[in-house]
Amino acid sequence: MKELLVAALSMGWGVLAVLAGLLVYNFTKGNKDGAFKIFIGMLATLMIFMAITNYRDNFFAESRLLPVSLVLITATTFMMALYFSNVSALLKIGGFMFLVAAALSGYGNWLPQVEGGFPPPDVKLVFDAMSSQQLADEGEKIIFGGIGQSSVQGAIGKGQCPLCHGFQKGFLSERAPNLFGLPERAEKERLTDPNYHKGEPQKRAYVDKESCPGCGTATTVQEYIAESHSCPNCYVAPGFGVKGTNDKESPMPKIHKPPISLSLPELAAVDTWLYVREGREAPSYEDIIKSYEKFVPEADRPKQQDDKAAGPTQLLADGTEPVDQIFAKGQCVVCHTIPGIPGATGTQGPKLEEGTNAPNRIHDPAYKGTAKNTQEYIMESVVLPSTYVVKGFPDNLMPKIFGQKLSAGALKKIVDYLSQVKAGAPPPKIS
Ligand code: HEC
Ligand code: HEC
Repeated sequence: MKELLVAALSMGWGVLAVLAGLLVYNFTKGNKDGAFKIFIGMLATLMIFMAITNYRDNFFAESRLLPVSLVLITATTFMMALYFSNVSALLKIGGFMFLVAAALSGYGNWLPQVEGGFPPPDVKLVFDAMSSQQLADEGEKIIFGGIGQSSVQGAIGKGQCPLCHGFQKGFLSERAPNLFGLPERAEKERLTDPNYHKGEPQKRAYVDKESCPGCGTATTVQEYIAESHSCPNCYVAPGFGVKGTNDKESPMPKIHKPPISLSLPELAAVDTWLYVREGREAPSYEDIIKSYEKFVPEADRPKQQDDKAAGPTQLLADGTEPVDQIFAKGQCVVCHTIPGIPGATGTQGPKLEEGTNAPNRIHDPAYKGTAKNTQEYIMESVVLPSTYVVKGFPDNLMPKIFGQKLSAGALKKIVDYLSQVKAGAPPPKIS
């Protein structure tokens, strides 16, 4: 294609040169009319020329300027039709058809370009054959949705960890410990904390004493990480427990259990990233898997059903789920009490009685958002949480990712449900 266009262009130069010669010839011979027609011919050639150049440049660049070529060609044919009356009808028809084509393709080109793309490749990842760096890359994808995404604010993958955890050095992470420096902290602070009761699970004061009967406690850094992931309630990092439980219970979900359901190989990838990105040497794949086998009984290990490459477009919920599952998958339940939703007992955010709250928020003189009714207020709160910050609650605690990470259908279900929740009234039905 490109070669053809280049050839056409060199021919164009040739034609131009010949025409220029003819123009000079006719002019010197005093043939004004002939000279003028040739001049028009040159102009036309030049315009076709521009059209082809534009087409060449924009065909390969993904720009939307292709219709410019078509318009140029149309204009050329019309111009020629004016001066070469013997072929005028033909040229006018041709020009008109070009114009129609230009209009149509222009319209198509200016529409938002949807990436048709291909479905994510259905490759089976072979974690155990990967190098440490490859494993770490897969880990980064699982946590953040893509390689290099760990430095992108708000990036989140199927592991969902950034919903709660900070990962960058010095990053304020109030909901959950910042996971930078975890290997060192595990060794120097966690395993030596008297409350950890290393080797003596029965002395633990936490909700779970052991991950499984006879599992015992972690003895190495890697085992501490595996235990943290599979049994958050076995030991709660001081200051991060569920409010009111005196740090006896953790808000963190078991990440090998639904909705996150990471398989052991995926967990190995996540852990490898945690070491490698700090420039540390990660334990071998086999050792990491072994550490999980200590805390996750065979029956609880998720099958590797979902071992397709974790893509950045992964949604937390696609909207086909019942609304209670959407609240669970979005982790709303961790921070919010939602009447009628089992397990939604969080207290870090307001109780979501939006049938009652929303009208009050909109009428608050401090309200600066654009919502006009309850539905719009809920949508705005979920998608742009900082638009209005409910009094008594912190800004920037609620994740700002739901606009991208929940499908339109899931958002609609959330809005429908919450708008029907009223203080003092029975909760709506789950659908
Ligand atoms: C809903 C919030 C939430 C999500 C999602 C979450 N965590 Fe946590 N995580 C916490 C909280 C809160 C703590 C501190 C309490 C505790 O020790 O269990 C914690 C503790 C940890 C610890 C122990 C940290 C330490 O300093 O001892 C690790 C490791 C960890 N999480 C890893 C992860 C990974 C990896 C993911 C994603 C696959 C994840 N978490 C997802 C809330 C979360
Ligand atoms: C990490 C904690 C956290 C998570 C997770 C979270 N929220 Fe929030 N949410 C808050 C906090 C804190 C506020 C109050 C501050 C504000 O208005 O931004 C809030 C405010 C709201 C409000 C406004 C409430 C009102 O009465 O005005 C709605 C609606 C809401 N959240 C819905 C959700 C939904 C739906 C999800 C899950 C998709 C969710 N939140 C997940 C912490 C959270």
